[in-house]
Amino acid sequence: MARFWFCVAGAGCFLALLVLHSRIRDSPVLREFVFQVSWRTEEILYRLDVGWPKHSEYFTGATFCVAVDSLNRLVYVAQRGENIQKVLVFTEDGYFLRAWNYTVDTPHGMFAASTLHEQSVWITDVGSGSYGHTIKKYSSFGDLVQVLGTPGKKGSGLNPLQFDNPAELYVEDTGDIYIVDGDGGLNNRLIKLSQDFMVLWLHGENGTGPAKFSIPHSVTVDSAGRVWVADRGNKRIQVFDKDTGEWLGAWNNCFTEEGPSSVRFTPDEKYLVIAQLNLSRLLFVAAPPVGSIGYCSVISSIQLADQVLPHLLDVSGKTGAIYVAEIGARQVQKYVPLNSYFSSFHS
Ligand SMILES: *[C@@H]1O[C@H](CO)[C@@H](O)[C@H](O)[C@H]1NC(C)=O
Ligand SMILES: *[C@@H]1O[C@H](CO)[C@@H](O)[C@H](O)[C@H]1NC(C)=O
Ligand SMILES: *[C@@H]1O[C@H](CO)[C@@H](O)[C@H](O)[C@H]1NC(C)=O
Repeated sequence: MARFWFCVAGAGCFLALLVLHSRIRDSPVLREFVFQVSWRTEEILYRLDVGWPKHSEYFTGATFCVAVDSLNRLVYVAQRGENIQKVLVFTEDGYFLRAWNYTVDTPHGMFAASTLHEQSVWITDVGSGSYGHTIKKYSSFGDLVQVLGTPGKKGSGLNPLQFDNPAELYVEDTGDIYIVDGDGGLNNRLIKLSQDFMVLWLHGENGTGPAKFSIPHSVTVDSAGRVWVADRGNKRIQVFDKDTGEWLGAWNNCFTEEGPSSVRFTPDEKYLVIAQLNLSRLLFVAAPPVGSIGYCSVISSIQLADQVLPHLLDVSGKTGAIYVAEIGARQVQKYVPLNSYFSSFHS
């Protein structure tokens, strides 16, 4: 008899759970509740490396962006200010190597392209002076190699190419370039260029609908051929097919308070690492399987001190270390994966 009632109770619980589950999927209030619960039980994946860099006196301006050359274990930082070195180069171990100062006016975003054949650093420049409204490519020693856009002239043209405030870019090993333009101003565009700088596809409209943007601020590409864009003003991430430019989906549900300002993947592509500027917060969001974008789900987060203002970040493809450019704190900080997580992707 006791066993009978035990079974009835068990079946009842199961049914109640089913009903609750189906309700949760429809109810925004309950979904929020589930979000809060998972928030509290989130995993810890990373810790701050207080020893990086060895000496912090090299940061003399507002540190807007950072880029990692994983192959050569170098970290590039760009900062804004008067009479300062605009670009600083560190090793991943935290030693300062060199700096450069020329032809960078007002850096916004950067990318380190690193293959066996070529190492280069790309910087977007949103200055209004004679270097501004451009994206520039440098050698790893700071020699200017290439200029995209029309220096000193803002615009929306494609031939010749013009930018207003290009926010960031991502360069594939093939040389194909993805540009988000921009950080306010004339343009709200995502542009794909071939390695010889021909426009392959573009989404160029301001707005809130699919494939439209409001301050597209950061862009990254995964190995499944999906392009991820932090559409900051629309408080969402949008996803595109890298070959066709086709819109694949969007995530709105993680960013109700503030839009994402930065997107990068961990080396195992298990998580997207996202910065929220004014909230001074980093989010680790589960990357969805190929073929479905679904809902965004926060697995872990790091709350930084008030007014640290993490702007853009980059992740080492080798070590998984995250480097965060903090405009408010005027420094770059390094976060390293905990051993338990590191060993899971580094075998
Ligand atoms: C950077 O370049 C500017 C313009 O050429 C110059 O005035 C300034 O002194 C330089 N600063 C440093 C730290 O080299
Ligand atoms: C983009 O559209 C929004 C409204 O959807 C408007 O407030 C904003 O001024 C527009 N921006 C540009 C650059 O046209
Ligand atoms: C952050 O706050 C500042 C000042 O209130 C505001 O101008 C800016 O638009 C905010 N940025 C984001 C990404 O919400």
